[in-house]
Amino acid sequence: GDPDFVRIVEVGPRDGLQNESKLLSVEQKVHLIKGLIDAGVSYIEAGSFVSPKWAPQMASSAEVIQQLPERKDVVYAALTPNLKGMEAALQTQVNEVAVFTAASEAFNQRNINCSIQESIERFQPVFALAQERNIPVRGYVSCVLGCPYEGRIEISQVLKTTKLLLEAGCYEVSLGDTIGVGSTHQVANLLKALLSEIQSDRLAVHFHDTYGQALANIDTALNLGIRTVDASVAGLGGCPYAKGASGNVATEDVVYMLHGNGLKTNIDLNRLAMVGNEISALLARNNGSKAGLALSQA
Ligand code: HMG
Ligand code: MG
Repeated sequence: GDPDFVRIVEVGPRDGLQNESKLLSVEQKVHLIKGLIDAGVSYIEAGSFVSPKWAPQMASSAEVIQQLPERKDVVYAALTPNLKGMEAALQTQVNEVAVFTAASEAFNQRNINCSIQESIERFQPVFALAQERNIPVRGYVSCVLGCPYEGRIEISQVLKTTKLLLEAGCYEVSLGDTIGVGSTHQVANLLKALLSEIQSDRLAVHFHDTYGQALANIDTALNLGIRTVDASVAGLGGCPYAKGASGNVATEDVVYMLHGNGLKTNIDLNRLAMVGNEISALLARNNGSKAGLALSQA
C-alpha cells in the first residue's frame, strides 16, 4: 500500500462508550457511527459481544450494528471473546471481529476470567467460524507497556502473546497501552523487538492517553513503520481501573498530527471535530480532543 496512508481504527463506539458511565440509546449510537462515516472514517469498532454483566454499555451492540447503513467501503467490527460472542456477532452485518487477551496474566484474569493460554484456546472456535465465513479476525494484546496489577511487563511476554495470536489466525495484532503509562523510549524498545520478528503491517497501536503520552508514542510508532492506529473520537472513554484516567487517544488529534506531517487518512477533520463536539455534549463530558476544541472555536 501507499506508505503515506495511515489506517485509522475508530474505537470510540466500543472502547469509548464501554467506559462512559452514561448509557446511550441504540439511536444515539447509530447516529454517532453515521456521523463518523460521513466524516470519512472507514473502520469502526461498533460494539462488543461480551457478557452484559461486564459491559452493560455494550448490551445493545447487535441492535446497533443491525441498524447501521450497508456500506461496502466501511468495516464494522466487534469484540468477540468466545464462541458465544462470535455466534451473536454472526447474526449481524459485522465484517470483522476481534479477540482480546493481555500480556499480563493478572489483567487477563480480571478482564476475561482466564489465563493467557486459556484465552487462546477459547478463541479457537472463533477462528474456525471466522474462517468458514471469511471474516478477518483482529487481535488485541493489552498491557503491553504496563499493567495496573503487575506493573512492569517484559517485552518477551508481549512478543510471545502477539505471536500466539498471529499464529492462531489474527491478521493483525493491536498493541494496547491499556492504562497509558508508556513513554516514547519504551514504545521504541518494544516495537523494535517485535519488528525484528513480525512485519510492520501485522501490528497496530492502541494507546490510551492517561498520562498524555499517546500522541508522542504514536509518532514514535509511525517512525518505526506502523501504519494502523486505533483512536477514539473526542477521546471518549476512561479506564475503570484508573480513577480520573482519560480514554483512548482522540481521533481528531491523531488525524491533525498525521495530516500536518503529510500523511493521509481520507478523514475530513472538520467534520470529525463536529462529531466529537456533538457526542461530548450528549454525554455531558469535556471534549477530550484538543484539536476538536480548537476547530470548534475557530
Ligand atoms: P466467564 O464468566 O469466564 O464466562 O466470562 P462463562 O462462559 O463462564 O459465562 C459466564 C456468564 O456470561 C454466563 O451467563 C454466560 O452465558 C455469559 P450466566 O449464566 O451467568 O447468566 N456469557 C456471555 N454473554 C454474552 N456474550 C458472551 C458471553 N460469554 C459468556 N460472549 C467473558 C468470560 C469473556 C464472557 C467475560 O469475562 C466478559 O464478558 N469479559 C468482558 C470484559 C470486557 O468487555 N472488557 C473490555 C474489553 S477489552 C478492552 O477494553 C481492552 C482493549 O481496548 C485493548 C486495550 O486497551 O488494551 C481491547
Ligand atoms: Mg482499549
